[in-house]
Amino acid sequence: MSVLPSTEVLLLGPGPSPVSPRVGAALGAPARSHLDPEFMAILDDARARLARVFRAPAGAIASAVSGTGTSGMETVVANLTETGMCVLVVVTGYFGERLAQMFERYGAAVERLRVQWGRAVDPAAVAYAMRDGQFDIVGWVHVETSTGVVNPLAEIAAIAHEHNALCVVDAVTSLGAMPFDAAASGIDAAYSCSQKGLGAPSGLAPVMFAPSALARRVRCRSFYFDLDLLESYWIGRKYHHTMSAPLLFALDAALCETEEEGLDARWQRHERHHLKFAAGLAARGWSLLPEPAARAWSLNAVRVPEGADEAAVRRRLLAEHRIEIGAGLGPLAGQIWRVGLMGAGSTEANVTAVLTALDEVTR
Ligand SMILES: Cc1ncc(COP(=O)(O)O)c(C=O)c1O
Repeated sequence: MSVLPSTEVLLLGPGPSPVSPRVGAALGAPARSHLDPEFMAILDDARARLARVFRAPAGAIASAVSGTGTSGMETVVANLTETGMCVLVVVTGYFGERLAQMFERYGAAVERLRVQWGRAVDPAAVAYAMRDGQFDIVGWVHVETSTGVVNPLAEIAAIAHEHNALCVVDAVTSLGAMPFDAAASGIDAAYSCSQKGLGAPSGLAPVMFAPSALARRVRCRSFYFDLDLLESYWIGRKYHHTMSAPLLFALDAALCETEEEGLDARWQRHERHHLKFAAGLAARGWSLLPEPAARAWSLNAVRVPEGADEAAVRRRLLAEHRIEIGAGLGPLAGQIWRVGLMGAGSTEANVTAVLTALDEVTR
């Protein structure tokens, strides 16, 4: 007999974030098949909601790919990249590097604009990197989850468009949590995940292709992530793969909650609780890695204070307080904790709970 977890853990790491009772209940709704009319109506509803949550331009395609955030990344890359294309990827941390590698796997010649971990990219550096290159695509991560940094959107997109390059943005740790407006910022294609700012379980990856990107799609080398085939399922109702009903129901419930709250109000909630957490850290003499202007509201990269045992603190938070936070990745391993306040997890009570628990385990 399998033994399921029987106690709650407060998920305040880099994702997944906690799900609300309504989203949790949607997971247990009666089963439907992936071509059932009721299922398809919910898929239509989720697609329309995703277009609004991405603030996609008219004529865009927005939907959810079966898989985690990385599958969204692969869908966007696989449908826009051909062998020999030149791609500029801004690498401000671990996930920028993953995006660069994804483009390389699809045959692109990738130039990396490397930025010190913990800093946001300066748009002037993008302009400089593009000064005499011919780039087909510029890719970057909006909120770099490995460093807690938010990178600019509109400023980079304007530079890329001056050079006729498409803009591909990773919105995995920003969608539903930080201001993201594809139409206003000029983002041509973007991808995200279900398990962070939107507050659903992991397993579906929102994607958005603006008409500008749809006009430049290529023959997709992946069967699973082929936008033509996916559209013939999402819109044409033709079998392509067996999409998970519980995951779709949960994502749709999370999108309903997001829209009922209002996107702007939701962003403000994330900002409020991030600022409260940052103020609580400052009162303890602790600090966040990024400069104030570059701090994401969804993911807080906390510098491990002198004398604290990074791994032991995380272990005790989990064992004694049932709170999960994340460790640093790559060069930041051992140096930061990553505290996510996202989706249903972005509450005043959770800010107090994690600060109080940190006090106890670092005493
Ligand atoms: C910015 C960013 N991009 C991509 C990913 C990959 O998403 P997933 O782990 O859902 O595949 C993550 C995961 O945390 C992320 O934070």
